[in-house]
Amino acid sequence: METLSDADIFVKNTAKTVDNLYYPTFHVAAESGWINDPNGLIYINGYYHFFFQHYPYSAEWGPMHWGHVISKDLVHWEHLPIALYPDQDYDRGGCYSGSAVDNNGVFTLIYTGNVWLGAEGDDTHIRQVQCMATSTDGINFIKHGPVLYPPEGIMHFRDPKVWRARDSWWMVVGARPQTNLGEVRLYQSPNLTDWTFVRILDQATTSQEGFMWECPDFFNVNNKDILITSPQGIDAQGYDYRNHFQSGYRCGVWEKDSSYTVQEEFKEIDHGHDFYAPQSFTAADGRRIMVGWMNMWNSTMPTQKQGWAGAFTLPREVNYNEHGRLLCTPITELEQLRSDYNALKPFSLTNMRVGLATQYQEYKISFDLAKSTAERYGFTIGDGAKIFIDSQSKRLVLERLSTDLTLNTERSIPLIACSKINLHIFVDASSIEIFVNDGEYTLTSNFYPSAGNNTVTFYTENGKAVVSSVECWKL
Ligand code: FRU
Repeated sequence: METLSDADIFVKNTAKTVDNLYYPTFHVAAESGWINDPNGLIYINGYYHFFFQHYPYSAEWGPMHWGHVISKDLVHWEHLPIALYPDQDYDRGGCYSGSAVDNNGVFTLIYTGNVWLGAEGDDTHIRQVQCMATSTDGINFIKHGPVLYPPEGIMHFRDPKVWRARDSWWMVVGARPQTNLGEVRLYQSPNLTDWTFVRILDQATTSQEGFMWECPDFFNVNNKDILITSPQGIDAQGYDYRNHFQSGYRCGVWEKDSSYTVQEEFKEIDHGHDFYAPQSFTAADGRRIMVGWMNMWNSTMPTQKQGWAGAFTLPREVNYNEHGRLLCTPITELEQLRSDYNALKPFSLTNMRVGLATQYQEYKISFDLAKSTAERYGFTIGDGAKIFIDSQSKRLVLERLSTDLTLNTERSIPLIACSKINLHIFVDASSIEIFVNDGEYTLTSNFYPSAGNNTVTFYTENGKAVVSSVECWKL
């Protein structure tokens, strides 16, 4: 039975007042209010369930609840009542991030209970414990309290990811030890309630690797064991790590003795302005699918004035390739959304602009780099963003255009040894997701074009650009 609480009713009523100028039409977002991390992503009893860090009462971060949406196909979503409230002694400062498992048919959530020991919001005095909740109907959850307490001397201890393997339950938790070198701690349990510390699975060795590793995820794909973390405290270096916090992966082998041998060093997952705290799950057919929070701590969020903030990225199928890269591609289910289709014959342009007459939401665009001579060439999306190839630096650049200078910045990726570049792009009301060369790189950013102004216009600066193909769809 679906019973709506006062908070659910508040969210639904406020949703009616949300200005939909920037509100997504095909991404998961709260009906109103604030969301951050994806939590408890799972396929169970014929449905995909996504939960999210949620503050229902305003478009700012506040005491965290778990919002809840479900879908049969990962494309069409239905909002369910809030699943977890910060209403117990052990989680009254927020039901923080965590995961979901199917425990022999019992839908189980493991999440972090946060308590402020000093003033609310002062994270130098906190207590974080891992807690459990279960449901029989997939809607209403009963809390069972803490199942794992922090180790001596550690306050920041959160974001449990739980999975089943090797006839056992396993949990990774992000932690900030007194050394301020972030780490991922590994625990094991026969039953989800009694947990034993196994080892530190991985940790920062220098302060440049982050003081706290948030939101760990650990999974096997293409016979590699991938450890995802969202470290805090990495400084920008050249083109890299330009966001306030980053999310990245290491690749290695989870050995028989449960230690982790790292084979490939940390790489950022996404290179846009707005991607954080991703989590992954196994789809009904076995694919590994990842979803991130399409926003970033401390960034300017113009939609807050419009009554909401935060959305999820599109679900991305994840694979690992022989060049040591995690490949992220949009799930094929999204093709169901396609309606009007248009394609252009290959063309070239020199010091001129060629605009599409109509606005689409999905594009596949490729450029012939070998035959293009311009210093810079690419396209604008209305007055909100420029996506271009910079021939001198050999980089693909996503530049956000805004009158707010804090938003008006660039992110880019290298184009080494490429003679062609294929871009698969999704443009929602205020977001752009660019999948480059079949997912070798992705750039995910929010952008804020003025009303009705996000058609694509190709351009070049100082020379010729060769556009080898353009396909577009309305979604
Ligand atoms: C990551 C994070 C998590 C925490 C949650 C709180 O974005 O800081 O570490 O559980 O958000 O909302």
